[in-house]
Amino acid sequence: MTARIDEVEEGIYRLSVLVPDIAPPLGFTFNSFLVDGDEPLLFHAGQRAMFPLFSDAVRSIMPLDRLRWISFGHVEADECGAMNLWLAAAPNSQVAHGETACSVSLNDLADRPPRALADGELICEGCRRIRFIATPHVPHGWEAGVVFEERSRLLFCGDLFTQLGDDPTTSGDIVTPAMAAEDLFQATSLGPATAPTIRRLAELEPRMLALMHGPTFRGDGAKALRELADRYAARLKAADEPAPSVQAGPPSVAV
Ligand SMILES: [Fe+2]
Ligand SMILES: [Fe+2]
Repeated sequence: MTARIDEVEEGIYRLSVLVPDIAPPLGFTFNSFLVDGDEPLLFHAGQRAMFPLFSDAVRSIMPLDRLRWISFGHVEADECGAMNLWLAAAPNSQVAHGETACSVSLNDLADRPPRALADGELICEGCRRIRFIATPHVPHGWEAGVVFEERSRLLFCGDLFTQLGDDPTTSGDIVTPAMAAEDLFQATSLGPATAPTIRRLAELEPRMLALMHGPTFRGDGAKALRELADRYAARLKAADEPAPSVQAGPPSVAV
């Protein structure tokens, strides 16, 4: 078993492992992204069990001692289970995440001190400008965040738009499959901040969206994000509406 590697943009690699046993027959992908540059960044450390697959994939692109930054959406096994394995294998690397993630979890969990990032702070600049954006509780996790590569206008959007299947890229509809997966997994922490936070990401006007679980989308990323926000807003509104009352007795018949 190996990770599939697709160069989705010059110097930006999607590393993908398909697990066919999750939600068959389509299966489910776990994707990490390597952004090569002056300070190469890995977005998603992956599960510990998948570390051999992802590290072999990175090693096939560049020596591990070139890796500088390790970041991920939030503190969950598929996002960061292998964080310390990466820190051990890539001696020049450091975890970079938001202030909440660092103070709540990563200062304790990471084997080397992480770099705490403010909302909107640049992780690296130069030939790549990669910015951290805090998205608390969106799609889940107090410490949640995403990163945006400004040169290619590529938003690494973590678990947002999660879908089944193993297509590597798409320019089609990613909202409908995301809502189908939401119905299946109920993974989003739906709340009043969900839609506004996603609409804030749309203001970045991304032209690519790199899904952690699904294809990399190329197209009008802002439109897709606003549609996703609208769908969550509708679900939140429906959840807050009173359930229809149940009337006792037979229905009246109009004559
Ligand atoms: Fe997650
Ligand atoms: Fe995930």
